[in-house]
Amino acid sequence: MVKTIFSGIQPSGVVTLGNYIGAIKQFVDLQHDYDCYFCVVDQHAITVPQERLTLRKNIRTLAAIYIAAGLDPEKATLFIQSEVPAHAQAAWMLQCISYLGELERMTQFKDKAHGKEAVSAGLLTYPPLMAADILLYNADIVPVGDDQKQHIELTRDLAGRFNNRYNDIFTLPEARIPKVGARIMSLQDPTKKMSKSDSNQRGFITILDEPKQIEKKIKSAVTDSEGIIKFDRENKPGVSNLLSIYSILGNKSIEELEAYYDGKGYGDFKNDLAEVVVNALAPIQERCKNLLESSELDDILDAGAEKAARKANKMLKKMENAMGLGRKKK
Ligand code: TYM
Repeated sequence: MVKTIFSGIQPSGVVTLGNYIGAIKQFVDLQHDYDCYFCVVDQHAITVPQERLTLRKNIRTLAAIYIAAGLDPEKATLFIQSEVPAHAQAAWMLQCISYLGELERMTQFKDKAHGKEAVSAGLLTYPPLMAADILLYNADIVPVGDDQKQHIELTRDLAGRFNNRYNDIFTLPEARIPKVGARIMSLQDPTKKMSKSDSNQRGFITILDEPKQIEKKIKSAVTDSEGIIKFDRENKPGVSNLLSIYSILGNKSIEELEAYYDGKGYGDFKNDLAEVVVNALAPIQERCKNLLESSELDDILDAGAEKAARKANKMLKKMENAMGLGRKKK
């Protein structure tokens, strides 16, 4: 049997190089061998305040980026989370079997809630929604960056708990994390992950950044004063992060890059890296622009939502039957 893959990205800003390397690039490689569902998880994005029109724009842009980056809508099902209501319905059921303590222990919740006076309840109950996303499709594999590992662990716990308590209906999914690039770091603080919600714009590169912005951001990336291009995450986090980005987007191993830049300075290295990033993103940007102007994108998303809903609704019925909700459904 062909295995199923599910993954999603929040449209909480324009996706970053971190999202591209940690997630989208994996999606593109995996689409040929699995039954894939890739989602724009807009309901996750509203766990923190979003400006209405900006959110709308980011949702469509993210869908266009999926396709522009190489996802083929004939192979993978692409859709928007809020257009398939089963996600929110299943999330409620999974919230009811989640313990407050385990949700409060999630690192991402602690980070995002830290120091804030008003924290939405949605920020706390976000992992059961993510579990619903995954479990509705009986996904075997969930390709994500390193920061989502804990949420997949919780998804497995919730699936196991539901299976034991009610009926054995869920597959326990596994995270698939890339060997290089699972955690691309901020260009300004290489001990922090690159994030689209970083208040320092220079910390991240978005997929749609102009070549000039990309050059500027890479040139101002924090390195160290040693002047040696070597991969050493602990002592040279800035250089190591740039090497990871270069290796993935330039299709060269870290060792090859270290050998090539032996004796050269950070200036040359950064100039070349900027060129590699600009060249990798240029075709994606061009396709994205065309898609955003076309009605093709909306047709793809309509068909995707329909296909996703067919599959998700079947599982939703099983969940409701297992828990005893409503009248028995066939
Ligand atoms: P999100 O939107 O924060 O990130 C989307 C994907 O990009 C990966 N990622 C990174 N990878 C490498 N380096 C980085 N700096 C970096 N930043 C982000 C993330 O690990 C993720 O794979 N909760 C999820 C979205 C979600 C989801 C799901 C994912 C909702 N439902 C179901 C998988 C399955 C999130 O906030 O990702």
